[in-house]
Amino acid sequence: MANTKDYHDYVIKDGKFVGAFEEMYQNVEDPWHQTEEAAHSYSRMDTVNSIRRFHLGTVLEAGCGLGHFTNYLQAHCPSSKIIGMDIAPTAIEKAKASFPKLSFIAGNLKDLDAILASHGFAPDGIVFSEIMWYILQDLDVILEKTKKALLSTGGVLLINQVFYHGGQRYGREFFTTQEEMMDYIGWDVLARTRSETADVTSSYETHTVLRPRR
Ligand SMILES: C[S@@+](CC[C@H](N)C(=O)[O-])C[C@H]1O[C@@H](n2cnc3c(N)ncnc32)[C@H](O)[C@@H]1O
Repeated sequence: MANTKDYHDYVIKDGKFVGAFEEMYQNVEDPWHQTEEAAHSYSRMDTVNSIRRFHLGTVLEAGCGLGHFTNYLQAHCPSSKIIGMDIAPTAIEKAKASFPKLSFIAGNLKDLDAILASHGFAPDGIVFSEIMWYILQDLDVILEKTKKALLSTGGVLLINQVFYHGGQRYGREFFTTQEEMMDYIGWDVLARTRSETADVTSSYETHTVLRPRR
């Protein structure tokens, strides 16, 4: 049985990164309310539009969790092949059980090169949907490996990220807004949107499409 411990405690507690994603998925049924959230946001619709607009054939959804957004993308982009990947093997087992027709792989983004080589594919698009705060400790190596993978196909990185009005509390040393995030990454910006979330007073959603420079 799932316990009632708050999923946040496994992720970031008292402003410090915990990162116990596997333990979280073993103990919490639906962290981040993924079952409800998968389709309910502008940035998620924007991701569909970008996959279509940039004609992305093979797309890796990195940090796919329980696979609901992977499933949403595959349903709305039938000409593309969407592959979900997550650091937590339990999340991947659950995603495979929920969506047996889709492809899911377990792996840490910081090992992206080895994962792509062992699974034998090169993505035209890599989606980071609401994962930025959880990969900050390895962000530079992850961006380097993402860049290498995308340069090999001419592909793009699609980032969906919620930011907070009045500034971010966690991860401030990296970026606190969409603009600062784009500056930090330093790639060419092909598209960007910003929309209010349902809770307009505290946060807003962003969708950014970036192409690495050689
Ligand atoms: C907030 S959930 C996002 C789920 C999904 N992408 C969505 O938008 O609904 C963040 C996910 O990132 C995963 N994650 C965190 N660090 C990761 C890493 N280094 N490599 C792959 N996945 C990671 C976590 O296990 C978690 O499932």
